[in-house]
Amino acid sequence: MTDVWSQRAKAFQESPTHREGPDLDLLVEWCEPGPDVKVLDVATGGGHVARRLRDEGCTVVTVDPAPGMQPDVVAPAERLPFEDGSFDVVTCRIAAHHFQDIRKAVAEMARVTQKLVVIEDNVFLDEQVEEAERLRDPTHVRCYSEQEWKDLLNAAGLEVEQVERFERHPALEGWLERVETPPGAAQRVRELLSGRVESGLLALESIVVKARRSQK
Ligand SMILES: C[S@@+](CC[C@H](N)C(=O)[O-])C[C@H]1O[C@@H](n2cnc3c(N)ncnc32)[C@H](O)[C@@H]1O
Repeated sequence: MTDVWSQRAKAFQESPTHREGPDLDLLVEWCEPGPDVKVLDVATGGGHVARRLRDEGCTVVTVDPAPGMQPDVVAPAERLPFEDGSFDVVTCRIAAHHFQDIRKAVAEMARVTQKLVVIEDNVFLDEQVEEAERLRDPTHVRCYSEQEWKDLLNAAGLEVEQVERFERHPALEGWLERVETPPGAAQRVRELLSGRVESGLLALESIVVKARRSQK
């Protein structure tokens, strides 16, 4: 899986829906950025979150299991090689649906933050979308509902403070090309998602969740 993601590095650096958007603006705001804030960007991919937080003066460490993404540290979210409470904020954008063990990953993010965990991911819509996502990209594991996110974060000892949902409209063909979906699978994905495509744009939704470490 790591090699697959390394090969995709350029496509994700250039992807319009990853590079910018009101969801990214809100995630950055909810990280409460500033010059003394130390942030870990988990599954940094094309590094868009890290870039924005550095612009706000934060000290950012990036982590990703794919060496081709050129993170500061190569590691999966399920095994973060940092001491407890090493960061003020841990963030993770549009990546958790690829994690093999989501509970372990959220527990790790909660362990290494002192204050905040801010997550954005595609939200669970229905099983048809899940099937299309897996056909499009076999590294897709699962998207989670708003309630599942709250339960995951609470179980890791975090208190959910704010939640917001965003419509996302990636161009269907670019969305398929970015991960090089084979033609046969791409055709089935188009069929499965036909009710969600208008003028070539796919209607998806993401959720941004801000959670704070509970006081002991
Ligand atoms: C869509 S990209 C991330 C996008 C990026 N955070 C952004 O905002 O543009 C998904 C990333 O998840 C990473 N990834 C896949 N499995 C992972 C895991 N188990 N732990 C951490 N990262 C993982 C991939 O290497 C890839 O860089």
